[in-house]
Amino acid sequence: MCGIVGYVGEKRAQDFLVSGLKRLEYRGYDSAGIVTVSEKNEATLIRAKGKISDLERKLIDNRRDDKIGIGHTRWATHGEPSEANAHPHQAGSLYMVHNGIIENCKELKKTLKGHQFKSDTDSEVLVALIDSFYKDGEYLLVDAVVQALKLVQGTYGIAVVSTKNPDEIVVARSGSPLVIGVGQDETLIASDASALVGHTKRAIYLNDGEVAVIKKNSIEIKTLNAEPVSAKVEEIETNLSAIQKGGYDHFLLKEIMEQPDSLVETLRGRVDVDNGLVHLGGPGLSEKELRGIQHLIIVGCGTAYHAGMLAAYYIEQFTPEITIETVIASEYRYRQAYIPKNSVALIVSQSGETADTLACLREIKKQGVKTIGIVNVIGSTIAREVDGGTYVHAGPEISVASTKAFTSQVIAMVMFGMTIAQAKGVRNTILKPYVDEIAKLPDEIKNVLAGNREKVKEIAGKYKKYDHAIYLGRDTAYPTAMEGALKLKEVSYTDANAYAFGELKHGPLALVDDRFFETAFLPKGMLYEKAISNVQEVLARGGHVIAVTNNAKFDLKVDDTIKIDTQLEIFVPILMNLISQLFAYYVTVAKGYNVDQPRNLAKSVTVE
Ligand code: F6R
Repeated sequence: MCGIVGYVGEKRAQDFLVSGLKRLEYRGYDSAGIVTVSEKNEATLIRAKGKISDLERKLIDNRRDDKIGIGHTRWATHGEPSEANAHPHQAGSLYMVHNGIIENCKELKKTLKGHQFKSDTDSEVLVALIDSFYKDGEYLLVDAVVQALKLVQGTYGIAVVSTKNPDEIVVARSGSPLVIGVGQDETLIASDASALVGHTKRAIYLNDGEVAVIKKNSIEIKTLNAEPVSAKVEEIETNLSAIQKGGYDHFLLKEIMEQPDSLVETLRGRVDVDNGLVHLGGPGLSEKELRGIQHLIIVGCGTAYHAGMLAAYYIEQFTPEITIETVIASEYRYRQAYIPKNSVALIVSQSGETADTLACLREIKKQGVKTIGIVNVIGSTIAREVDGGTYVHAGPEISVASTKAFTSQVIAMVMFGMTIAQAKGVRNTILKPYVDEIAKLPDEIKNVLAGNREKVKEIAGKYKKYDHAIYLGRDTAYPTAMEGALKLKEVSYTDANAYAFGELKHGPLALVDDRFFETAFLPKGMLYEKAISNVQEVLARGGHVIAVTNNAKFDLKVDDTIKIDTQLEIFVPILMNLISQLFAYYVTVAKGYNVDQPRNLAKSVTVE
């Protein structure tokens, strides 16, 4: 989704702006632009539809030594991707970049008769509104920004510069993240801390309703109501290697292959194998509060939602006295749902910025329900707004498709469930097998990835010609099927849907024909034989089946079989999900698509 960068200091601003925007490319965008302002009060505005490389081509003839500037990658919402709609937008002496959506832009636009609009964007309305306050010289830039923002409904992260005072950037946020990087004789801004990595380790995360005046050696923050805010400088933990490809062709493959290590980070200091216990510090709930939990709501979108579904299957296996409801954030935020007493909500998000998930968090909090974040990005909005939390510590995910976060989210939630179970006095003999398997999981993941990568690649080559796929599973393998289908569709554009095996006869079986292939997840266990019967039904109708199983004796005549060799019994679906991830990756590479930045998608979905 849209990205913002900004620089004021002693170096050439264009250099940071372009390199910062490149770091934000992973978020998804369709046009980009930068503006810098010289000491002689001249602005150089360069914008391009397409990639940052298109912008760089235009820069060749427009190199400037200006020491201040702002930049943007745009993911179209109002108006098609085009140079005219790309940011920065201009009004009078002002240039502005904006993330978010101005909901009342139509009404505001009617009041701005003096401005000649050059784009279809809501953002240009905002900069024109700021300029309407600024141009008479009655307000300082920051005060003009505040006056305008008081009239705005919607979400924004903005950065504004004026050619009149080329030593300051004014930034503000409400619902769209902004991070200020504190450097030596320079101050940087970005909508995502990854753009700052390598430049500074010190960051200030702006909160909603705050506005800041940024100069090379000073940062002044206040609220829209003019109350001063004392800034908290935090450390950026990410290092450069974590956001580079590290020898892999694509971030997606790197992040899939990283899972043994990223899961170790999730588990670090939290698993006590000898005593069959887990220890989570973050949730901050007392033993009494944990004992009292009767209902869990798990909220997320996309992959985070699937992680919640899978975790729910596990948690209810060992915590009999609670009910669990896993909900899609974009739906739940508008439902009139009754939340029973003694509920706790798990707010699951890799980015910690997803607009719908954040909105749910705020709605749930209003009802007095305790919220616990299962978040990856440190310092993100959700992480800061929840009552307590368990960071999943999976490390940066750059590829748009979420992979390693899923594995870590499931296990972090299972550990939270075990924390409740421990407080409720569930017998150690019940919990111990889960702890044992969690501890073994990183090595098992390593083996499954190493043992199956080539085979999955070979099979993927065969199935790249299909436009339709059905993923099937039951019990814990059902969320796995859902996640597998999502991964395949989002990166390879194959129309893939998931069904619980038991649902086949209720409709989807009608689809089975030569245009489809069916991926069947078949973990050994209580429902294995029933799932096998379902596979037979698909085969009897001419289906093309890829079976994924941990049953070494599996001998059904299907098109392709992937046998997972593992000692695990409980968390086998997580291992099966690795196969889905690899399969989606290799099908996409075989089709020649952009696997890290699928069309139309963005990494963190900060608009509704
Ligand atoms: C799928 C994917 C998305 C995200 C969803 C939620 O691969 O990446 O479905 O899982 O947009 O994002 P977060 O977890 O950042 O809230």
